[in-house]
Amino acid sequence: MIAKMSELLAECTKKGCAVGAFNFSTLEYGRAAIEAAEETGLPFILQHAPAHEKYVPFDMAAPIMLQLAKEAKVPVAVHLDHGTDFDLCKHALDLGFTSVMIDSSALPFEENAAIAAEVVKEAKKRGADVEAELGSMPHNFNGELGEYSPEDFYTRSEEAAKYLELTGVDALAISFGTVHGVYKAKPTLALDVIERVSKATGGLPLVMHGGSGLSDDDFRNAISKGIRKINYYTYGALAGGKAVCEIVKEKGASLQIHDVAVAATKAIREDLVNVMKLFSMEG
Ligand code: 13P
Repeated sequence: MIAKMSELLAECTKKGCAVGAFNFSTLEYGRAAIEAAEETGLPFILQHAPAHEKYVPFDMAAPIMLQLAKEAKVPVAVHLDHGTDFDLCKHALDLGFTSVMIDSSALPFEENAAIAAEVVKEAKKRGADVEAELGSMPHNFNGELGEYSPEDFYTRSEEAAKYLELTGVDALAISFGTVHGVYKAKPTLALDVIERVSKATGGLPLVMHGGSGLSDDDFRNAISKGIRKINYYTYGALAGGKAVCEIVKEKGASLQIHDVAVAATKAIREDLVNVMKLFSMEG
C-alpha cells in the first residue's frame, strides 16, 4: 500500500530505528526491494534518482513505482531522490509521489533554503512530504574526489536549526562522513554531528545518504543518534552484478536474457533483506 514518508519516519522515531530507501534504477532493483519488504514485513521508501535516468527514465519508472507500491503488502512511500530543481519536484508531486527530495545543497545557504521552502509549499498543497539536504554529500563514483577531508562537508547544527525554521522540511539529509558509491578508505562517521543536528532541530528525522559500504555497527550507531532514513543503493547493485557474472559463467551460450533478470533480482533481494533487518534494529 502507498504510504507517506513522514508516517514511516514518525514510526521509526517512536521505535528508535530507520527505514531503508532503495533506488528504482532498473525493474529488477525495484522488484527486489518490494519482495524484500514483503519477506521481512517491513515498510520502505522506493525512490528514483536523476542519476539513474539513463537506465530507466523517470517518466517511465514513475507509474511502475506507484503501481508496485499500491500492490505491495507493506507500506511503501514513493519518493523522488536528489530532485535537482523545483520543476522536477513539482512534476513528481503531480504524478502522485508521496514525497520529494530537493537537493539544492550545492547552493549558498540562503538560496538552498529559499528553494526548499518553495518545494515545501507546493508539497503541502497535496499533503506530500519533503526532504532537503544541508552540508554536502560528495560523490566518489570513480574515485574522482581524490584525497578529501570529510569534515569540509559536515552539516553545522546552528545552520540546520535555522534551515528548519526557514523551510519546514519533514526530513533533512546531513553530511557526517558518508559518501555515495564505493569507499576508497574505511569511512569514519562523525556521530557527534548527527547528535548535535538532531538536538538543534528538536529530533527532526535525519537522513543518511551513501549507506553502502558501512559496517553493521556504523548503521546501529548512526541510528541510535537520530538517523531515520537510510539511502542504500550501490552494494545491492553490486550483489546483483555478482549474481549475473555467476549465471553467465554457469549457463554460457544457453543463457537467456530473463535468466539475468531473475538472478539479479534474487541477489538484490537477499542483500536488501539483510539491510532492512539491520535498519529495523530488531534483535
Ligand atoms: P549508495 O549508493 O552509496 O548506497 O548511496 C545511495 C544514495 O545515497 C542514494 O541517494
